[in-house]
This record gives sequence, C-alpha cells and structure tokens, in this order.
Amino acid sequence: MKILAIETSCDETAVAVVEDGYRVLANLVSSQVEAHKVFGGVVPEIASRKHLEIINHLLAEAVAQAEITFADVDAVAVTYGPGLVGALLVGVSAAKALALALGVPLIAVNHLMGHIYANFLAYPELKFPFVCLVVSGGHTDLVLARDHGDFAILGRTRDDAAGEAFDKVARLLGLGYPGGPAIDNLARQGNPEAIVFPRAFLGDGNLDFSFSGLKTAVMNCVRREGEKFSPADIAASFQKAVVDVLVEKAFQAVERAGVKTLLIAGGVAANSYLRQRLAAEAPEKGVEVKLLPLELCTDNAAMIGCAAYFKYCRQDFAPLSLNAVPDLVLGEERY
Ligand code: KG4
Ligand code: ZN
Repeated sequence: MKILAIETSCDETAVAVVEDGYRVLANLVSSQVEAHKVFGGVVPEIASRKHLEIINHLLAEAVAQAEITFADVDAVAVTYGPGLVGALLVGVSAAKALALALGVPLIAVNHLMGHIYANFLAYPELKFPFVCLVVSGGHTDLVLARDHGDFAILGRTRDDAAGEAFDKVARLLGLGYPGGPAIDNLARQGNPEAIVFPRAFLGDGNLDFSFSGLKTAVMNCVRREGEKFSPADIAASFQKAVVDVLVEKAFQAVERAGVKTLLIAGGVAANSYLRQRLAAEAPEKGVEVKLLPLELCTDNAAMIGCAAYFKYCRQDFAPLSLNAVPDLVLGEERY
C-alpha cells in the first residue's frame, strides 16, 4: 500500500511516497533557508507563503519520481502539529483536498512521532521497547516507546529546546541561521574545556532538561569576556555543556526504563559531537545506540509516511474536519 505524505510544520516543504511503511519511493525536501537567512530565523508568514508556492509542484514531482499516478495512492498523510500554525495549515489543507478528491483515508501525524519513526526507515527490524532522545528546534524529549501508539514521555525541557539553544548561541556568535550546523563546524576548531558553562539538572535524579540558563551564561561570556576567548572555544564549550547533559540523561533514561536500545531523532541528532559521545559511551553502559543517518534526522516527509503506515494498520484515520494543532503534545491526538 502506498502513502503520499506531506510535511510543512516549519521551514521545509516536504513530500514523500512510502510503500508498506518502509520503502521510500520518493522523498523530496525543499528548504526555505535562503528566504529566512536574511532575517536570522524563520519568519512564519514567509514560511506559509513559500509552502503555498511550492507544494503542488512537489506533490506532482514526488508522484512522478515514485513512478505512480495519484490513482495509485492508498492514503494521504500529513503533519498536523506541533509547528507554525500557518505553515501547518498549508500541508493540512493540501492533504484534506487530496484525500477527498482521491476518495482515500486521511492520516494525521504528530511531527515528533514522525521524527521517532524515521528510525524505522533506517532500521526496519527495530524492536520495541526502546528509548528515543528527540532533539529538534522546538523540542527536547526523552521518550519511552513500548509499542506502536504506546509512547510515554520520561523527561522534557522546561524552557528552551536544545536546537533553539544552538540557534540562539549561533546568532550571538554572528554565525547566522540555521545555527546548529554552524556551531557543530566551528566547535571542531575550539577547545571544549576552555569555559565551564552551567549544566542544569545534572545529578538531580530527574530526566528533565533546561537550556535557558546556559544560553544566558554564553550571552554573558560573549559580552564580558568576548575578547578573552575565541568564537571557536565558546562554540566548543557551549556544545560540550549541551551534549554532556543530553548524553547523561539519555543513558539514565535507558537504565530507568529497563530497556537496552537508545535511538536519536530530530535535527540536533545530526550533531557530530553528540553522535561521537553516544557511540563512545554505549559499550561501557551496555546499551545499543543506533545513530540515525543524517538525512533522516532533519525534517522530511518519509518519516511522516512511515509513522502514518502504522496508524493505517490500526485504521486510525482523521476526519476531513482536521485542523492544524500548533501546540500538539507527543502521544496526544486532537482530531
Ligand atoms: O528537526 P528539525 O529539522 O526541525 C524541527 O522540528 O525543529 O531541527 C532543526 C534544529 C535547528 O535548531 C538546527 O539548528 C538543529 O536542528 N541542527 C543542529 C545540527 N543540525 C541541525 N544542531 C546541532 N548540530 C547540528 N549538526
Ligand atoms: Zn522536526
């Protein structure tokens, strides 16, 4: 069975065709980075307009690349939250129109669930239960996955998301947008021990995160001691502070949940230092860490098609009255 999947929650317009859950027949991502770069971050109104301009072209292109016709589509899947409401609405409207016109079911997918399911595309043999560290521009969650549709949050950020901290610190250092990859690159030339930034909640015994204090500490350092340290040292020390906490809490979550497998998902999962540390510490912790391929970490529609397949198997369909839910929580459905 073939699912046509649409993702427009932020600044990437993405369309994919996924067969039987795992076979990606087409996976197109059109990035808006150039349009937002001059503003130093995503401008919601511009994001919506850009999605609108390109979505129909991408749909036609995805179907052509998959070497099918619209008549071969068995279900239409779409991200309905969380994300920017105007951006989400473009995808949701397109998906509803297609589902109605083709007479096929509509499947509503939580964006974060999509990120986690990207792991099934990379590892079709993946077995439950597992813990997944979801680290994106808007979220930092430790999720225990017991079965399809049975996910529990073990810990989450109480303020900024990890990706948001990367983006804000990059802006402080004048590295532009998107900040995560820029910090990742610059940090390679810096000394991660140069500055000791705060690590919130480490050793507190809870699995929540907080990155706003760290962001403020970096801001103060740049303002007061900007001359003393190189941008590369600041980037490397900041990155180490984030990664120390992510790695420590992720392994704690695995231990507490009594599982053996740790997965990663979301844009920050592409961070080279995070990946290096998880891989290095996995053997001593007796944990199997699976490092999601880079192209599946950041936003795409194949992951939405994969997550949708398991909803299709449960006949969990959304009504055509489906709306965008910008503050949708993981594990929750609102349709
Ligand atoms: O999952 P994603 O593509 O979109 C959201 O759902 O938010 O994540 C985007 C976030 C941005 O904050 C970006 O700076 C960050 O992921 N990111 C990285 C790296 N690549 C992307 N952060 C750190 N290191 C990277 N290599
Ligand atoms: Zn995302």
